[in-house]
Amino acid sequence: MTNKTDRIIIFDTTLRDGEQCPGATLNIDEKLVIAKQLARLGVDIIEAGFAFASPGDFEAVSKIAEVVGTENGPVICSLARAIKADIEAAAEALKPAVKGRIHTFISTSDIHLEYQLRKSRAEVLAIAEEMVAYAKSFMTDVEFSPMDAARSDPEFLYQVLERAIAAGATTVNIPDTVGYTTPSEFGAIIKGIIENVPNIDQAIISVHGHNDLGLAVANFLEAVKNGARQLECTINGIGERAGNASLEELVMALHVRRQYFNPFLGRPEESQESLTNIDTRQIYKTSRLVSNLTGMLVQPNKAIVGANAFAHESGIHQDGVLKNKLTYEIMDAQLIGLTDNQIVLGKHSGRNAFRTRLKELGFELLDSELNKAFVRFKEVADKKKDISDWDLEAIVNDEIQQAPDLFRVELVQVSCGSNAKPTATVTLRTPDGEELTDAAIGTGPVDAVYKAINRVVNVPNELIEFSVQSVTAGIDAIGEVTIRLRYESKVFSGHAANTDIIVASAQAYVNALNRLYASLQTQQKPEKVSAQKV
Ligand code: KIV
Ligand code: ZN
Repeated sequence: MTNKTDRIIIFDTTLRDGEQCPGATLNIDEKLVIAKQLARLGVDIIEAGFAFASPGDFEAVSKIAEVVGTENGPVICSLARAIKADIEAAAEALKPAVKGRIHTFISTSDIHLEYQLRKSRAEVLAIAEEMVAYAKSFMTDVEFSPMDAARSDPEFLYQVLERAIAAGATTVNIPDTVGYTTPSEFGAIIKGIIENVPNIDQAIISVHGHNDLGLAVANFLEAVKNGARQLECTINGIGERAGNASLEELVMALHVRRQYFNPFLGRPEESQESLTNIDTRQIYKTSRLVSNLTGMLVQPNKAIVGANAFAHESGIHQDGVLKNKLTYEIMDAQLIGLTDNQIVLGKHSGRNAFRTRLKELGFELLDSELNKAFVRFKEVADKKKDISDWDLEAIVNDEIQQAPDLFRVELVQVSCGSNAKPTATVTLRTPDGEELTDAAIGTGPVDAVYKAINRVVNVPNELIEFSVQSVTAGIDAIGEVTIRLRYESKVFSGHAANTDIIVASAQAYVNALNRLYASLQTQQKPEKVSAQKV
């Protein structure tokens, strides 16, 4: 291995670091759906989880290794603290993958050593070396991260990296764990590593960074200019606190500005060849999938994938774009897979047309999933004359969402108006198959529905986020509802799409309650071992 690779390796950590944000907890089936999509997107490495953290995490890593970690698939990686039991769990979970990677880490900053690890530098040096060698005894592909590297003493960092590489690390990852550095500082850290770690040519330099100051992507791009060749990032930038560097922003910056970056990778400036292996046309779909399944909404003005990212509001801009797109657009929306949102199907469209269009949109569903989605499609087509690509996407994402099917909404009825007390009646099917009906009065129709549902489910919780977005324009648009609720210190999310936003609100709420209910039943605390919150 050498840092002289002339392309950028994309290491996706949506399912590990991304999943650490409150309420983004995904079940195994949902993780698998996302992993398959990440493979279609073309990421080089999927960090599938932290195998030691919980039995659920172990199973998810193992399942993704089996199903997605195929010959032509991406490398599948598991995180592991620099502890034997963690490394053993990672190695075991990764066994089904054709290409597996253990990613082991230990902190190197003085503040972490003194207050968190309570270890001396000499101890950390010895542990890093010993645990990289231990990981290497299981597989050849080993990544080592000195956590909080960006705040570590550079001289100590160089020593740790040299020892880790000597022990067998093939990738050394430099995390800005607390999102503290600025681009020029981060670039200088990478440059310092290249100049001062004698065996650095035997490993790929990777970067990992959090977005606390909104600088993660800028830091990474500066790192690339200074020799970093692997970027650890997440879809929509989700992750711990302010999140991680966003995959779509990095990839599109490297794509749109490739002539600027080419020379830093030893390519001729005019080369048009892509700097990453990412199929950019899969970006938008991946973003929507991750947002829907995690319940983490994308802000409208988010670069690349926000609803307004390609919208021109000002008259001057619209006029320019009509005359020549390039006047105000630096990239074509189609490049990220945003189609023109064609009207494609209607109520007379059959299963074949439905299946064919889904395939064209990149959805490959199992027969059982297709059947469920087709039933939903027919229901929507009865209410909405023209079904567009975006409607189809909303229907499919909703159907493949894998919230546990414990309580099910059978009926929602509301009465409200200017001089009426908003009143709701709901019927839910319970996990035992019983149908329970209750009613409540609320401050508005959604509040009344939620109160009625609470009377049936009877698990105390606090609603902390409620949002409605329309998928397309028009009075008959599908509305998507995303909610997040808190139970004790844990957050659960729910998402649903329907032409009736009151029904969508009820379904989204029940989805979130089902996740909460399932976690109470299995006693599998979503709060994982504290070390995972890294
Ligand atoms: O932010 C961090 O430092 C991490 C490491 C485990 C790479 O997530
Ligand atoms: Zn992190």
